[in-house]
Amino acid sequence: MIVAIDGPAGSGKSTVAHAIAERCDLTFLDTGAMYRAVTVRCLAQGIDVSDADAVTRAAQACAISFGRAEDGAQTVQLDGADVTQAIRTPEVDANVSAVAAVPAVREEMVRQQRELAAASATGVVAEGRDIGTVVFPQAQVKVFLTASAEARARRRAVQRAGGDEATGSQANASEEEVRAVLEAIEKRDAADSSREVAPLKPADDAVLVDSSELTLEQVVARVEELVVAARQAEAPVEEPVAAEEPVAAEKAVAAEEPASVVVPVSAEEPVLAEEPAPADEPQPTAVAVDVQDASAQPVEAAQPQKAPEPEAKPKDAKPKESKPKDADAPLKLWGNEREDYFRTGMRDYPAPVRGMYHALLGAVGGLSKLVFRWRIENAEEADAFLREHGCVIVMNHCSLMDPVVMLVHLWSHGIRVRPVYKSEFESNGFLHWVFPKIGALPVERGTADMKMVRWCRAALKRGESILIYPEGTRVRSDDEQVEIHGGFALLAHTAKAPVIPCAIVGSRNIKPVGAKFPRPSKLYVRFGEPIEFADLGVRGRKEQVKAMEERAMAAVWELRSKLRIDHPGKL
Ligand code: DC
Repeated sequence: MIVAIDGPAGSGKSTVAHAIAERCDLTFLDTGAMYRAVTVRCLAQGIDVSDADAVTRAAQACAISFGRAEDGAQTVQLDGADVTQAIRTPEVDANVSAVAAVPAVREEMVRQQRELAAASATGVVAEGRDIGTVVFPQAQVKVFLTASAEARARRRAVQRAGGDEATGSQANASEEEVRAVLEAIEKRDAADSSREVAPLKPADDAVLVDSSELTLEQVVARVEELVVAARQAEAPVEEPVAAEEPVAAEKAVAAEEPASVVVPVSAEEPVLAEEPAPADEPQPTAVAVDVQDASAQPVEAAQPQKAPEPEAKPKDAKPKESKPKDADAPLKLWGNEREDYFRTGMRDYPAPVRGMYHALLGAVGGLSKLVFRWRIENAEEADAFLREHGCVIVMNHCSLMDPVVMLVHLWSHGIRVRPVYKSEFESNGFLHWVFPKIGALPVERGTADMKMVRWCRAALKRGESILIYPEGTRVRSDDEQVEIHGGFALLAHTAKAPVIPCAIVGSRNIKPVGAKFPRPSKLYVRFGEPIEFADLGVRGRKEQVKAMEERAMAAVWELRSKLRIDHPGKL
């Protein structure tokens, strides 16, 4: 097994590769350290790094190997001498790009790298710039790890000040330090990307992971998933993946779950309060079971927290006159309750409401297309899938235009979709009135209830899709800390629905930070492949939900990074 991790300076390759080596029992091959070791030799011998022949001779005379210190950290040896510290000096930083740009030096290093890999009994995780493209083009897993230059500079500066995400040590770096590192990083990026031999670039089949907004653990988990999937692909009969689990197993897992779940969308996490389901409706798994009670009570017996029913009713008591919740009663032509729109399939909305919906989206669609000239790329395949399956669509969020574009596109292609919105929007009288009529589902901060889960599940089962923005509030800059509200995966799980990652770029350009007025900006949207729970390669509801959250959001950011590469300047 060969895992190739390429990427620019400071993207976290070493830390991630190191963690993957530990977790997946692979040998860690730090190829940057090898170019650095050659640079140490050149500097020690007073060789001018612009003298390609002299540098080549030095490289060919270098025997580089790796060892382990007592604390488990990797060490680097040059002809048997420990150069672990010597390869990390600013002087080496400043000269290594020139050394690494010499074709014959690269040839020699690639030869040594292949030899080291061949000697490993377990396989290797190698990190560098050309691993997936040149050194191991046959690697089973290829990752291109990237991050914005600002994010990388900040991390490097914090690292230099003693901080280390891998060990949890904290440190602060001043803005000047960050700026200085940023300058050096940009210089090195430019040199590594523009050199003639093996320039830094993703292999065509590499998975792009943008770590700007991911924690180390999220990146490692993503790469680990790829390794697990590749191992399964190599030995498909060994580990069958269970798509469905027995109910008993689900309940057992549910007992470990927190008492409530979080639904995405709002910036603060809404907590699902319990609400009893009608007796004839299967429970949406056990998401609302109180932990303390879970072991003692079957799911069906979970007691409501809000508005509990009277304990015992007289046998001959008449059923309440009011309409039973979630009953299938058809809607009136006009004057329905808001909840009626949440529980009823969009196809069954009364004709005047549907007419209004078409008129509204037609008008908004035409206007938005005119001003923002938005384009949905690779829509055909996604549209065909969405016509056949109710899916949870997740995407990044920068502007109010994001849901508008999606709704208009999906509506105009005959796909029924329900956006999930924060109930704060309802303070606007018009939105309060119109949102239910376009199928939108509200989530209330702190008090959203199980009804929401049931509405979503029923919608998905009916073939309607749910559109969710797990980043919550609109994200206006790459430097903003983004908290992902992972409840979307749980919603998808309750209906065993696929999740479709999707990304938009250009919408952040509409109103950049500091701008007073919005301006037109062309928008681009791209759909990713649908992700099924059975594809995740993990068992257990809790594990599947977690893996789905991570996989789907990593896919969203990867799509966004690719869009940014294809449409320079679009954020
Ligand atoms: O990843 P690093 O910063 O330790 O890498 C040091 C230098 O070596 C960097 O300028 C790019 C270069 N390098 C390379 O050209 N090819 C590799 N496979 C690894 C590193």
